[in-house]
Amino acid sequence: MTVVTFVPPGGAPITASVPTGANLLRVAMAYGVSGLVAECGGDAVCGTCHVFISGIEPQQLDAMSEAEDELLDNAAAPRRSDSRLACQLTVPAAPGPIVVTIAAEQWRSLR
Ligand code: FES
Repeated sequence: MTVVTFVPPGGAPITASVPTGANLLRVAMAYGVSGLVAECGGDAVCGTCHVFISGIEPQQLDAMSEAEDELLDNAAAPRRSDSRLACQLTVPAAPGPIVVTIAAEQWRSLR
């Protein structure tokens, strides 16, 4: 189990002890974390599950695929060094809490 704190935009943090190896997007959905659009349902084609991860070294997370890398370059919220797509991450084993901040902007209108 790993302790994860989700920080939704403008909302109260939600902290939970979750199984290591669980999909981070699915965990967020199960706990009712707001702010994630997840338009594609986790298929890594929409980029609307953009989160910022802290409390763990980046190399302890799942490796970033080329598809995730490209989607983050086009995310609605500006990409940061701690940006990831929640659907592409499993919960890692970690001694301390992992903080998952939901990007405030998930959707960019194409109009
Ligand atoms: Fe679409 Fe993550 S849910 S990229």
